[in-house]
Amino acid sequence: MSGTAVPAESTEVVIAGAGPAGLVLGNLLLAAGVRCIIVERQSRAHVEERARAGFLAANTVRVLTENGLADGLLKDGQQHDTCAFRTDAGEFLLNYGSLGRGEAHTVYPQQHLVRDLVAEFLARGGDLRFETPVTGITGLTTDRPEVTAQSPDGAAIRLRPRFVAGCDGRHGIARTAVPAEAARRYRRDHGVTWLALLAAAPQSMAAVAYAVHEDGFAGHMARTPDITRYYLQVPRGESPADWPDTRVWAELAHRMRADRHGPLHEGPILERRIVDMNSDVLDPIQYGRLFLVGDAAGLISPAAAKGANLAVMAAEILAEGLVPALRSGDEQRLTRYSADCLPRIWRAQEFSHWMIDLLHGPAGTGDDAVFLRALQQARLESLRTSRRHQDHFAENYVGI
Ligand code: APR
Repeated sequence: MSGTAVPAESTEVVIAGAGPAGLVLGNLLLAAGVRCIIVERQSRAHVEERARAGFLAANTVRVLTENGLADGLLKDGQQHDTCAFRTDAGEFLLNYGSLGRGEAHTVYPQQHLVRDLVAEFLARGGDLRFETPVTGITGLTTDRPEVTAQSPDGAAIRLRPRFVAGCDGRHGIARTAVPAEAARRYRRDHGVTWLALLAAAPQSMAAVAYAVHEDGFAGHMARTPDITRYYLQVPRGESPADWPDTRVWAELAHRMRADRHGPLHEGPILERRIVDMNSDVLDPIQYGRLFLVGDAAGLISPAAAKGANLAVMAAEILAEGLVPALRSGDEQRLTRYSADCLPRIWRAQEFSHWMIDLLHGPAGTGDDAVFLRALQQARLESLRTSRRHQDHFAENYVGI
């Protein structure tokens, strides 16, 4: 609007992003009677079709169930409690659901969970604005920050919340609103690249399968009865175009040792995406009135399927801090938000890092690589034979 200031809308919490982090937080706040607005860059159709993760940890199922958000996953989710490791020495299965704390995964495609969370938020009267990207977050050290956004028709929007939740993911704007001097950023490039694939084919085996192979890692994970997720480790800089369906299936069969363990169920490859394994953690994950949740707070490699589960974990902790702060001015839990989340985030990072080293041999043939490959074999053998190691694995593989 030229010449006149855009009228500001006041609310209690503005949530940037409608992924697992933003939608779980929004539903928890709404259920507690907190006025909040979720602003999402993409369209509703886009966020509800985006195939991402799908392995829900027991803690995630608990949070969703306790808050009336689990109808879909309780109806259609599949319990998964076993994973298989394939190496030159053969295949061994870990029934992790009967190890450690006896927790299993619930396989429920993230786009279905997002669809359920959107429907629930709107059914509860939530204010969720699609195609409305956040363009600026300022005034974070005042008691009335300002969030600017752009509505679908291009008009400027000014929101004046009490608090801002940055749930806008790895490419979002919220994490850039934290001044560099206000937080320490830990980063690691694991030097591993995956070609992430979605195949229109039923799963080839009952379990999640991790194939450790000198030609590179391959992974198999169920998604829905007729869609299966595969991963192939590829050289850094590879293009998806280098991998037509025939080459994908030949290499998957090779690394999964299909000649020894049975053929894979093939089908058209629906999605090819290059994923460079990077991790980063911001400390602290709050600044003034801004609180970062999920990928906006830090990235974790998909090696242990932790991303969406960490997002839900932090969303619950943040809701538990925001509600008393807004209801009675008690900000004790809110000031501890980062301190409560970071130990769990680092434990997930440590396990994810261990999984990357377990599944991916070093490149090259020098002494160092040969030594590290022998270490890798020793780790796998320990996991195959030691019950205590298996209990530790199960606790960290499913736990948050
Ligand atoms: N304004 C508004 N929304 C934005 C902006 C912006 N400037 N930038 C990004 N977004 C939206 C994205 O379109 C996306 O819908 O923020 C949302 C972030 O969602 P996710 O990337 O799913 O992040 P998060 O909710 O933290 O979930 C983390 O879930 O996506 C899986 O496994 C993945 O680890 C990831 C986990």
